Amino acid sequence: MHTIKEYIEKNKQRFIDELIELLKIPSISADTAFSQDVLNTADLIIKSLKDAGCDHVELCETPGYPIIYGEKIIDPKLPTVLIYGHYDVQPADPLDLWDSPPFEPVIKKTDLHPDGAIFARGACDDKGQMYMHVKALEYMTSEGKLPCNVKFMIEGEEEVGSESLAWFVPRNVEKLANDVILISDTGMIANNIPSITTGLRGLSYVEVEVTGPNRDLHSGLYGGAVANPINILSKMIASLHDENNHITIPGFYDKVEELSKEERDEMAKAPFSLEAYKNALDIDDVYGEKGYTTNERNSIRPTLDVNGIWGGYTGEGAKTVIASKAYAKISMRLVPNQNWEEITALFKSHFEKIAPKSVKVNVTPHHGGQGYVTPIDSKGYQAASKAYKETFDVTPIPQRSGGSIPIVALFEKELKSKTILMGFGLNSDAIHSPNEHFGIWNYLKGIETIPYFYTYFTELH
Ligand code: BES
Ligand code: MN
Ligand code: MN
Repeated sequence: MHTIKEYIEKNKQRFIDELIELLKIPSISADTAFSQDVLNTADLIIKSLKDAGCDHVELCETPGYPIIYGEKIIDPKLPTVLIYGHYDVQPADPLDLWDSPPFEPVIKKTDLHPDGAIFARGACDDKGQMYMHVKALEYMTSEGKLPCNVKFMIEGEEEVGSESLAWFVPRNVEKLANDVILISDTGMIANNIPSITTGLRGLSYVEVEVTGPNRDLHSGLYGGAVANPINILSKMIASLHDENNHITIPGFYDKVEELSKEERDEMAKAPFSLEAYKNALDIDDVYGEKGYTTNERNSIRPTLDVNGIWGGYTGEGAKTVIASKAYAKISMRLVPNQNWEEITALFKSHFEKIAPKSVKVNVTPHHGGQGYVTPIDSKGYQAASKAYKETFDVTPIPQRSGGSIPIVALFEKELKSKTILMGFGLNSDAIHSPNEHFGIWNYLKGIETIPYFYTYFTELH
């Protein structure tokens, strides 16, 4: 019999090696060139779940990438924890900004990770964090310490909007029945300041196309006399924020929940250094909605951001041209109560309305999802809080995150259970960016903390 600490000490090199194998496969869901790699990743996880002691593991076909389902039911009378994670990753580009290739994992020390961090796409989001749960299960089953039932549901389309999971969950409500959903796909404040994520923002993602003349034109012969779609698009985008950085779409804020002064005061107690924040990003000042702090701007307030903008000539040298078309991809991060479909519709009608007659505008919605907030007095939150207290020796701080996991709201609706977000990454781990990494310490600390969640949740239940 080993304690979890002893078990990790004995097996940590293997835990690291196994994660590295998983990280070598480029499971990029957004790019069909990698579809075989996405499928191969699913196979590897199937095998790892069997090895970790699941009694039953299956690859569930969907209209898109398959969903991995695994379970170990020790006694139907005991509570059931459902683990969710994703095996797909974001595209790795721009490749030239990586210090080492994104799918050739290397371990390097950093200021925040003096014990070393694994550098690879997906290290933190979400292969590393998902795999902590597989290794925690391995410990609990091999040492006879699993206190309750467990189910795993690992998908391959989170980074592209979880469409297949939204199809799968309502069709498998019985199979997925659980008492709490546990996810490690978020972050915490710092290694000595653990936090539990109590909120996620919703999302509405749209693409816009502005068309001017029917062909690209000589910018001398026609310039000044016809609308330049890129000029117009820039103007339209600029008009979406006012001088206070408030979003100007009529009705956009109608359902936004304003936090009470008490709640905002409570939030402001979370440790945060504006100087360190600016230094880490090499910026001289922050920027955002008037009347709100940085931590409020990126968690309890909705936003609108251009994610990409293109059109016209972007090759070498100069070309004098008025393009026929201009494009942008725009995301709106939403807060609980804002309905993403409503917001998408508001955006579309406003954007069409502000376009001058000289251009045509086309708005295409991509994916979206609802935000989420979870109370801190639930059994799941209490169990998580006690688990962190056990392994970090401090009580974690509840904190709302600015990121989105749109499927979480659907879990609550369909499966009627609360989600607990126990993330072990740091904001500086560069998820979605070049040089993504995950601290070895964080990886092992996650594996250490998870079994305590099972124990305390079973006790509290
Ligand atoms: N794991 C992230 C979300 C996240 C990260 C939440 C850190 C909180 C803290 C997830 O994989 C993600 O990237 N979600 C996307 C949305 C999705 C629909 C593409 C996002 O937030 O942009
Ligand atoms: Mn993720
Ligand atoms: Mn992600």
